Amino acid sequence: GTGGLVDRHGRVATDLRVSLTDRCNLRCTYCMPPEGLDWLPKVEVLTDEEIVRLVRIGVEQLGIEEVRFTGGEPLLRPGLVGIVAGATALSPRPEVSLTTNAIGLARVAPALAAAGLDRINVSLDTVDRDRFKQLTHRDRFDDVIAGMAAAHAAGLTPVKVNAVLLRGMNEEDAVPLLDFCLEHGYQLRFIEQMPLDAHHAWTRGEMVTAEDILERLTAAHTLTPDTEDRGSAPAERWLVDGGPATVGVIASVTRSFCGSCDRTRLTADGQIRNCLFAREESDLRTPMREGATDQELADRWRVATLGKLPGHGIDDPSFLQPARPMSAIGG
Ligand code: GTP
Ligand code: 5AD
Ligand code: SF4
Repeated sequence: GTGGLVDRHGRVATDLRVSLTDRCNLRCTYCMPPEGLDWLPKVEVLTDEEIVRLVRIGVEQLGIEEVRFTGGEPLLRPGLVGIVAGATALSPRPEVSLTTNAIGLARVAPALAAAGLDRINVSLDTVDRDRFKQLTHRDRFDDVIAGMAAAHAAGLTPVKVNAVLLRGMNEEDAVPLLDFCLEHGYQLRFIEQMPLDAHHAWTRGEMVTAEDILERLTAAHTLTPDTEDRGSAPAERWLVDGGPATVGVIASVTRSFCGSCDRTRLTADGQIRNCLFAREESDLRTPMREGATDQELADRWRVATLGKLPGHGIDDPSFLQPARPMSAIGG
C-alpha cells in the first residue's frame, strides 16, 4: 500500500511517540513500585539502528511529522544523542522532542541540542525537595532543577513541565508549581491521572480533576482561556494574569480528546500501539529481524492503525486497563 496512517474513524496519525526503554531511575508512587518492574529482556529491546530505521520508515513512507522520544526514562538510553541525530537528519525533517524526568539532563542538554533536538518536556510533580523524595522514592530534586535550567539555556524551548496531582499528596503544590514555572519561563501543564499505573490502583474518585486543579489555581491567579487554536494538542490552555504566560490542563479523563488524536506509538521492544489503551499490539521487531523490507514494515504499520478504537473507554463499565503500564508504553 501507500499513504499515511489512517484509522476507520478517519483520524490520521502524524505524531510518533517512541519509548526508548521501560526502565526508570525514579519510582513515582503513581507509576512504579519501589522495587521496579520486570524489565524487558535486552534481546527484545530494539537497537539504536532498528529504532532509527523504523522512525525513518514512519517519516519517509507514512507521513510522520513529529517524533517524541519517551520511556521509561529516555536519558537512560546510552545511544540517545545518536538516535536523536538520526531522527533530525531525516527528510522531510520531523519535529523532534523528548519527554524526560531531567535527571542527567544538565550534562547532555548541549549535546542533545547539537544533535538537533527541538524541545523537551519535563515531569515534575512538586517544587518541595522533601515531597519530591516522598513522591519519587529518590533524593534527586536538585538534579531535576539543574537539568531543566540546562535545557532552557541550551535552547530546548519551550521547556514544558508535566505535573500529576494526587489527592492528599501534592495537591497543595499546584500554585507553587505554577509560580516556579512562571518565574523560570517554563510552560506548566497539569495532567489528569489515567488508569495506566502498574498497581491497577487508579479510581475515578481519587483522581484530581481538571476542575479541581482550576479551582486551586484561580484562588491565586486570574486565568482566561487562550483563544489560540488547540488543534490535536492534548492540553487546554489559559493565559495567566493576562498573559503572555500560559498554564495547561491535559484532561484526558474528564474531557477526552480522542476524536482528534493524531498519535501512533512504538514500544521499546518494537511493537506498534495505535492507542495508549490499545488491547492489541502489532509486532514489527520480529519481521524486521527476519529481513522484512521497508515497504513490508510500512504496510504492517498501516494495518495496525486501522483498528484504533474511537476512544479510551475509561467510562465504559467493561473498561480494562491495558496489560502494559504507562512506563512501558511511553506516556
Ligand atoms: P506537546 O504538548 O506537544 O509537548 O505534547 P504532549 O503533551 O503530548 O507530550 P508529553 O509527552 O509531555 O505528554 C504529556 C502527557 O499527556 C502524557 O503524560 C499523557 O498523560 C498525556 N498524553 C500524551 N499522549 C496522550 C494520548 O495519546 N492520549 C491521552 N489520553 N493522553 C496523552
Ligand atoms: N496518568 C497520567 N499521566 C501519567 N504519567 C505517568 N503515569 C501517568 C498516568 N497514569 C505522566 C508522568 C510524565 C508523563 C510521561 O506521563 O508524570 O509526565
Ligand atoms: Fe489517542 Fe488513545 Fe490517547 Fe485517545 S486515549 S487520545 S485515542 S492515544
